[in-house]
Amino acid sequence: MMTDTSIRCVVWFGEPTSIERTRLAQAGWHTRVADASASGGGVGIRRGDTVVAMADVRKADMETLLSIARLMADHPRIPWLALLSSDTPVQAPEVERVLRASIDFFTAPIDLQRLIETLGTLAGNAPPPIVHADVPGITGNSPAMMAVVASLRKYAPVDLPVLITGETGTGKEVAARALHTLSPRRNHPFAAINCGALPANLVQSELFGHERGSFTGANARRVGHFEAAAGGTVFLDEVGDLPPDAQISLLRLLQEGTLERVGSTQSIKLDVRVLAATHVDLEKAVAQGRFREDLYYRLNVLRLRMPGLRERADDVLQLAQIFLDSFRKQHDSHARTFSALARKALKDFAWPGNVRELLNRVQRAAVVAEGAQISVADLDLEDVIAPRAGHSSLGLMRTSAERDAVMACLRESRFNISECARRLKVSRVTIYRLCKKHQLVLEDLH
Ligand SMILES: Nc1ncnc2c1ncn2[C@@H]1O[C@H](COP(=O)(O)OP(=O)(O)OP(=O)(O)O)[C@@H](O)[C@H]1O
Ligand SMILES: [Mg+2]
Repeated sequence: MMTDTSIRCVVWFGEPTSIERTRLAQAGWHTRVADASASGGGVGIRRGDTVVAMADVRKADMETLLSIARLMADHPRIPWLALLSSDTPVQAPEVERVLRASIDFFTAPIDLQRLIETLGTLAGNAPPPIVHADVPGITGNSPAMMAVVASLRKYAPVDLPVLITGETGTGKEVAARALHTLSPRRNHPFAAINCGALPANLVQSELFGHERGSFTGANARRVGHFEAAAGGTVFLDEVGDLPPDAQISLLRLLQEGTLERVGSTQSIKLDVRVLAATHVDLEKAVAQGRFREDLYYRLNVLRLRMPGLRERADDVLQLAQIFLDSFRKQHDSHARTFSALARKALKDFAWPGNVRELLNRVQRAAVVAEGAQISVADLDLEDVIAPRAGHSSLGLMRTSAERDAVMACLRESRFNISECARRLKVSRVTIYRLCKKHQLVLEDLH
């Protein structure tokens, strides 16, 4: 972490104009002009100083370009920015080397405002990200996310159930917590329960409690999750997995505001708000008789759809930087930011695992990154930039294309999951997940 007393220095290989020097000085940056060929990189960095190197190739001849590219290769841990003139031959291999090693580049006429902002980001003084101050945990100002924030604000104070839908990792639980925190119930408990993870024979007792001796092993009276959250909010994750008897009890709680513990006939009055999430299609579960229609209508009074990350392209880079910054607060990492190519990959990738996948990839990249910038390889997203023949390209596909591809491959593999996984060069688990995601029921397909 940089302290306020540390010096911020731009080591400028090339020729800054006097306006550039002045603007940088006003923004608190010292400029040290260096000569790539002469100094050989003897930059003399003091520990604790913030140093950014500028590869100013606006007037560079071939020889200088080569020396700068060499310096950049020798000092990968220093963040480099590049300045090009409008006629710098960007296709030339030497220029390409410089660009690849740069975190960002600027073409003349240089946008000094953006340059200073970029330097600020590198010094760890990035402008604060768009976090919605009163909506905790929700980051992003893409149109899709602004719509979510507007719904959260509207739904939070209303004491009705909200059905939250969305693909895995889109932030359904984050949204449920935000609804609770924004509601008048905020000082009461919030309980998140994964209905799919409860053992089928214990669901009723876990949720609604039981009396002593009501079944073998019930040695003492036990208060269920609902009663424990009295006055607060219960978030039922994977509500589609609730077995039929628990569906009836939940319906009663929603309709009458009462519950009965297992082994008791006494009804207990209870005030909780119920939020529910699903990533299966509940309408289909209703049509197939697996989910009660009356319960579905009760839960689905207000509906919130969490957008997939690929619908929030404007948010991806901001989220990635937030995840990297927060990782750096807890762990040592050389990485401060993302290379230009890595940023392109982050924007172009289809993110099947959504925000959770982004978080995981950024954390792993922060661990493996050798230099100041995270590369495409660190993110394991090389295929996004240059798909290799015969390599899995599922990650690149838009949803409908992905469904078609999986379906076609399943057919070709005669619905053999292992064979299909081999052909698509993904794991078997991924095939199962994709079938679930696209509601391809294997038994129905044969
Ligand atoms: N807008 C966001 N800003 C910051 N972090 C987020 C955001 N949305 C999600 N996350 C993070 O992404 C991860 C996944 O979020 P969450 O558990 O809410 O997803 P989910 O939709 O419930 O996924 P699943 O369907 O797999 O249960 C969490 O680590 C969460 O903190
Ligand atoms: Mg969840």
